[in-house]
Amino acid sequence: YATSEEKDMVIIGGGVAGYVAAIKAAQLGLKVSCIEKRGTLGGTCLNVGCIPSKALLNNSHLYHTVLHDTAGRGIEVGDVKLNLAKMMSSKEDSVTGLTKGVEFLFNKNGVEYIKGAASFTGEHDLKIELNDGGERTISGKNIIIATGSEAMPFPGLEVDEKRIITSTGALSLDKVPEHLVVIGGGIIGLEMGSVWSRLGAKVTVVEFQERIGGPGMDVELAKDSLKFLKKQKINFKMSTKVMSGDASGDKIKLELEAAKGGKQETLEADVVLLAIGRKPYTGGLGLENIGIEPDEKGRLVIDSEYRTKIPHIRVIGDCTFGPMLAHKAEEEAVAVAEYIVNGHGHVNYGTIPSVMYTHPEVAWVGQTEEQLKEDGVTYNVGNFKFSANSRAKTNLDTEGYVKILADKETDRILGAHIIGPNAGEMIAEATLAIEYGASSEDIARTCHAHPTLAEAFKEAAMSAYGQPIHQ
Ligand code: FAD
Ligand code: NAI
Repeated sequence: YATSEEKDMVIIGGGVAGYVAAIKAAQLGLKVSCIEKRGTLGGTCLNVGCIPSKALLNNSHLYHTVLHDTAGRGIEVGDVKLNLAKMMSSKEDSVTGLTKGVEFLFNKNGVEYIKGAASFTGEHDLKIELNDGGERTISGKNIIIATGSEAMPFPGLEVDEKRIITSTGALSLDKVPEHLVVIGGGIIGLEMGSVWSRLGAKVTVVEFQERIGGPGMDVELAKDSLKFLKKQKINFKMSTKVMSGDASGDKIKLELEAAKGGKQETLEADVVLLAIGRKPYTGGLGLENIGIEPDEKGRLVIDSEYRTKIPHIRVIGDCTFGPMLAHKAEEEAVAVAEYIVNGHGHVNYGTIPSVMYTHPEVAWVGQTEEQLKEDGVTYNVGNFKFSANSRAKTNLDTEGYVKILADKETDRILGAHIIGPNAGEMIAEATLAIEYGASSEDIARTCHAHPTLAEAFKEAAMSAYGQPIHQ
């Protein structure tokens, strides 16, 4: 089957899934090529996802704090101005630094980086349309598809990334919109809604469900997160469906309807952000040439070792099953390289944390109360509020709490749900605890530095174990 050069592993897509698999496989001794058409490595996450969104979340939070939250801290500031262009260029600097960093790692590990779009011409063979013009062919003993995902479209509202935007446009607006309407109160809607609200836009989130946060967030935290975001003056239209939109006039007009039917209204917006979910991206891969068909949700079907029905073609990351998260893609990337080289790999899908980087942050891992009830598992709840945590008090940042769910019989931690400052960092401790099968007593008896926010995690564990001190 060798039409040209043959590699041990050819990876399509240089996102988190693809680039990590490339580095890992090279470290395990394989000859690896990674094909990426974007022009830069790092995929959605580094270029138009995790990284730029967190840069804007961090700096918009700082701006908002300086504007509204300095007086009580004894800091008097003068004229505070937003320089949006500078905020955007600082975001770009973070992105470029990291995407170049991946290129450096490719060089260091001897991974060949091919800039172009790949499609299958045979089960081992790919044609690459090179970004610089021209074509090339390559064949791989193993081929990894890691082509990621894209925003779900909304019928009737055509994305121009200026007025009708996806998260990509929301990361690069050149002025603060007067009224930003966000369709979908999931993670993207709430993170990007927070950014633009802090920078001065009126923001209205229209959410079909009764709750925000998308699937997976514990209901109690979803309710409290809604409460905190409303306090920040983000408007919500809950249990409301956007039926249609018209962007032909000066203002974009959206027709809304109560989710259960009945009440209708029109909402006018300057910019509309579509944030109703993402779907696998496999366009242009030529899958029809090798007889692989995505399932009804567009996902490529795999077995427990990431193999498609053609065993040397494997799939990882957003374009297959599981949560669309960068760290999930990364775990799969390491595992797939290990399966190929060593015959065994491992990802624990029960310990993949989720973080929503709003303020306060919301983070969780393991099971929710709803899941435990559904499975008939009896559990203890340990809870500790940040308003009783010394570090949160010194920081004047006390919204939220830690909730730990532990098995009633064994005390083993089954889930941890945190809403509060730095929840996204603290969830690592919970993840490690669950991974190692820790009980809440194990955490309660582990010394935590004082004064830290992490003590709230220890106190919640003490409460689950029935022996709180500061409560
Ligand atoms: P991708 O990163 O999408 O990479 C796939 C790559 O394949 C792309 O670069 C694409 O150009 C390339 N490609 C596709 N087809 C071809 C082809 N035929 N030939 C060559 N190249 C091709 N996750 C988190 O864990 N934390 C976060 O904070 C977070 N924030 C996010 C914020 C936003 C706004 C968005 C949109 C997503 C966010 N995510 C976050 C999700 C995260 O970005 C994805 O889970 C992650 O990027 C998936 O990695 P991947 O490698 O599977 O796919
Ligand atoms: P999502 O699935 O999280 O949320 C979409 C929301 O839109 C749901 O609440 C849904 O009920 C609602 N919705 C759907 N159709 C609607 C309609 N017609 N009208 C009103 N509401 C409607 O999807 P989202 O926010 O687009 O994010 C996609 C994925 O990107 C996430 O699930 C996550 O995997 C990833 N991501 C992760 C981040 C993180 O880890 N911090 C940040 C951003 C994205």
